[in-house]
Amino acid sequence: MDGADFRRLWDELANIGPADTGGYLRFSWSDADLACRDWFRAQAAARDLRLETDRNGNLYARWDASPPPGEPNDGRAVLTGSHFDSVPHGGAYDGPLGIVSAFLAVDRLRAEGAEPKRPIVVAAFTEEEGGRFGVPCLGSRLMAGVVDPERARRLTDPGGTTLAEAMRAAGADPDLLGPDPDRLAGTAAFVELHIEQGRHLDEEDAPVGVASAIWPHGRWRLDFTGEADHAGTTRLPDRRDPMLTFAFAVLAARKEARLAGGLATVGRVEAEPNATNAIAARVTAWLDARAPDEAVLDEILRGFESKVSERAGRDGTGFAIAPESETPIVEFDGALRDRIAALLGGAPVLPTGAGHDAGVLAAHVPTAMLFVRNPTGVSHAPRESATDEDCAAGVEALAAVLRDLAC
Ligand code: GLV
Ligand code: MN
Ligand code: MN
Repeated sequence: MDGADFRRLWDELANIGPADTGGYLRFSWSDADLACRDWFRAQAAARDLRLETDRNGNLYARWDASPPPGEPNDGRAVLTGSHFDSVPHGGAYDGPLGIVSAFLAVDRLRAEGAEPKRPIVVAAFTEEEGGRFGVPCLGSRLMAGVVDPERARRLTDPGGTTLAEAMRAAGADPDLLGPDPDRLAGTAAFVELHIEQGRHLDEEDAPVGVASAIWPHGRWRLDFTGEADHAGTTRLPDRRDPMLTFAFAVLAARKEARLAGGLATVGRVEAEPNATNAIAARVTAWLDARAPDEAVLDEILRGFESKVSERAGRDGTGFAIAPESETPIVEFDGALRDRIAALLGGAPVLPTGAGHDAGVLAAHVPTAMLFVRNPTGVSHAPRESATDEDCAAGVEALAAVLRDLAC
């Protein structure tokens, strides 16, 4: 497997959902996502892998096992894969790299004549980024039973389309959404390969690393309410301007995160009526906060909420904060992590602040992640990158892990 082998398959996805920013628009159940799903089906068919779609819209391509006669085998699968969907104008690698690498790892194992004793299953999870419906890792969370299916069906995208409507338009049945304990029980391990979202591997001069943990993190919706009025005639003391409270909140998030030693970001905002010459009636924004441990995350949120509430009192505005998703700390299976790091010749072991379906599945099955070096360190933006040679090294590493776990 070399860089050119990787590039050949990788280029097949390059024309699905590109935007003029150099990033991608691959929202779940959009035309671009459906084209990615068609590509997945074609890859499964080309390899004679059995295609399955679960009740939550996640896709699987299954290489059935052929255990030697008499050998005990519980039939549970080794799952590998990632997601197709992107954040708005996200990079090419976050998600699709794990799916392309999984198909190439299957090719690699077949080329050497490997016969899996356990099924090897390539997975594509739905709505991992929450880029359309707001809840990240929605496909895996539904599978794990940690999101209420009724709530999921009612989630809306920025255009007002519900998840149920989007699924129906794509020919999927939203009434089936819900927990899938049998599929989890039938999984012996999950390994997600992912672009690194930082420069740790670049600094260590290593093409591939292994994840130790995912920071606890979450998303909160922030509602600021005030009173619309004329920008040219309303005296400053008479205003109830939610934009002021919002502006304070952005700075407060940053300050609380800095003081506590975590991260906080306001990357999305909507104003009503959104007119240059009118005081806003309402501002809605979303806070993303992450920290190395839950106590620090709590400290950031408590500080943020009390400072912004106090400011809203002074501005005469309303302020409400509501969680949209919360993810506790994930410590990946220590034995699996150490086994993989040793198998890869002492690959670096690193934590991440980014969320992944692997973090959701880790509560149910032994789970590991491989990271591929990203020289820019940038992610969720067009400059996210990896060399073809490093991606090929990632495929080799994933094939070694699958060989170890399934063959
Ligand atoms: C997903 O990539 C996230 O960390 O938000
Ligand atoms: Mn992402
Ligand atoms: Mn991802």
